[in-house]
Amino acid sequence: MATKLGEKAALVTGASSGNGRAIARRFAEEGASITVADIREDPRMGGDPTHELIEESGGTAQYVECDVSSIADLQAAVDATVDAYGSLDVMVNNAGVERQLPIEEAGEDDYDWLMDINLKGVYFGSQAAIQQMVDQESSGAIINMSSIGGIRGLDDSSLYCTSKGGVTNLTRQLAIEHGENDIRVNALNPGFIETAMTMEDGETADDILDQTPLGRAGQPEEVADAALFLASDESSFVTGHNLVMDGGFTA
Ligand SMILES: NC(=O)c1ccc[n+]([C@@H]2O[C@H](COP(=O)([O-])OP(=O)(O)OC[C@H]3O[C@@H](n4cnc5c(N)ncnc54)[C@H](O)[C@@H]3O)[C@@H](O)[C@H]2O)c1
Repeated sequence: MATKLGEKAALVTGASSGNGRAIARRFAEEGASITVADIREDPRMGGDPTHELIEESGGTAQYVECDVSSIADLQAAVDATVDAYGSLDVMVNNAGVERQLPIEEAGEDDYDWLMDINLKGVYFGSQAAIQQMVDQESSGAIINMSSIGGIRGLDDSSLYCTSKGGVTNLTRQLAIEHGENDIRVNALNPGFIETAMTMEDGETADDILDQTPLGRAGQPEEVADAALFLASDESSFVTGHNLVMDGGFTA
């Protein structure tokens, strides 16, 4: 059966849980070999590790311990992908965290922790992937996880929105820099998605859902479908785009 990502190798950061886990599983269903790169192997919401589920369904996956705030870890995850599968064709810079604080209460430690994961991790994850894709002289797709917080403000989320705004514009910049190498760089901008990250804060959830025309939270599988579009040849003329999937929240 023809698959949408047949023979491609994909590295997904933060793929042990939530959106990254759904993306990794969806890509594997479409024939990609997967590297799950995360600081933890066990999903935050419980269940079997992502790479085990993929292998049980007949797919190909490996787990690599990787802290995206470490450039060395990111490079090691790219190298492990190339060692195992022969190339890196799709990079999903998905790992991210949130810390809600009014700006007056945010300390330098909060700032450094969040930016190191959400922005530095995406910046150097993209750098490591692009270096590999340019070296292997083949086309590639990079998908960066932004958020609706990358295109508007959210309650007490100056740290998160600053980081995701950076991801939004970094995506445009890298699309311009590497179009000539046939490397497409796009971002996903989900609204409220039901994952361990959002289940921690019921009050914010209610606020956002009240303003969501579709009147419900999104599911990680819906984010994964959008990621599949950006990873596959179905989006072959799409680059530098921020794809919003938010149930109409920003409409
Ligand atoms: N859930 C939402 O509503 C929502 C909306 C928009 C954007 N996002 C973005 O989606 C991405 C995934 O979020 P999620 O909701 O699936 O969260 P989650 O907490 O369910 O999963 C995040 C995963 O990232 C991993 N991770 C955390 N720090 C890491 C690090 N330093 N290095 C490597 N891995 C690390 C965690 O271990 C976890 O497995 C994030 O970038 C988040 O900002 C989420």
